[in-house]
Amino acid sequence: MIVLGIETSCDETAVALYDAQRGVLSHHLHSQVAQHATYGGVVPELASRDHIRHVLPLIDACLRDAGVGTSAIGGVAYTAGPGLIGALLVGAAVAKGLAWTWGVPALGVHHMEGHLLAPLLETRPPRFPFLALLVSGGHTLLVHVERLGVYRILGESQDDAAGEAFDKAAMMLGLSYPGGPQLARLAEQGRARFQFPRPMTDRPGLAFSFSGLKTYTYHALQNTAQSQQDKADIAYAFQEAVAETFVIKCRRALQQTGLERLVIAGGVSANRRLRERLAALAQECSAELYCPRLEFCTDNGAMIAYVGALRLAAGQREDQALSVRARWPLDTLTPPP
Ligand code: KG4
Ligand code: ZN
Repeated sequence: MIVLGIETSCDETAVALYDAQRGVLSHHLHSQVAQHATYGGVVPELASRDHIRHVLPLIDACLRDAGVGTSAIGGVAYTAGPGLIGALLVGAAVAKGLAWTWGVPALGVHHMEGHLLAPLLETRPPRFPFLALLVSGGHTLLVHVERLGVYRILGESQDDAAGEAFDKAAMMLGLSYPGGPQLARLAEQGRARFQFPRPMTDRPGLAFSFSGLKTYTYHALQNTAQSQQDKADIAYAFQEAVAETFVIKCRRALQQTGLERLVIAGGVSANRRLRERLAALAQECSAELYCPRLEFCTDNGAMIAYVGALRLAAGQREDQALSVRARWPLDTLTPPP
């Protein structure tokens, strides 16, 4: 079955076609970053309007690229949450409308389940069960993944998500939104000069807290002349603190659960230093590390099409009502019937 996936939860309109036999057939994305950069963050109403402009041309481009006619499509998956409510409604309305026109089922997918299972799109996918570190702009979760739809949250951030912390620190360093990838680039020129804390690692448990690192970034910056080298050194200290915090918590979680496979996913999993450090940890713990390809770390349509395909194939269906959720805890999901 070929499934069309539509992702519009935040500031990227992303569409993909996934075939259960052949894998991802095509995927396209339009980023709104330039529009929101002026405001230093996502403006929800601008996001909704921009999704309306781009979603149908992107679907056309996917069909054209894959050489697939609409009659070949067996289902339409869309992100039903969590995310910006107006942005979600655009994807949901388009998905439901197309599915009704084509006489196929539509299915709402959880955005974080999409990120969580994105590594399964790779040629060497992880087997269930596995430990997942899900790190995006809105979430920081350590999840025990039993199988499709059975997720136990072992730890999460009590304040800022990792990506959010990257973006806020980047803004202090004078980098434009979203600053995560730029902070990572700046850190490459940095030296080990400042020592930032590894939050919440001095006590048992798997919870995270990243808001304090903002304060450290601010004070470190105030105590320097704020030269380019100073900023690079601070970016380095920040990135090391985040990466090492994740290493400590993932080590703990691997030991506690006895799991032998570690998956990282979500936008921050594109961070090279974090991947490097977690690869070393996996080796130390005789575990295997699995990451999505870089373009499937950040928001994309393929992960939504994929989860939709799995759940539709298992017989999951929903009614015609249009319902999206701004908030939606991952561990309230259930397996398909
Ligand atoms: O998963 P994602 O695309 O969207 C959400 O679901 O939130 O994640 C976006 C987040 C942003 O905060 C962005 O700054 C961060 O991922 N990010 C990175 C890197 N690439 C993206 N953070 C650190 N290093 C990177 N290379
Ligand atoms: Zn995301």
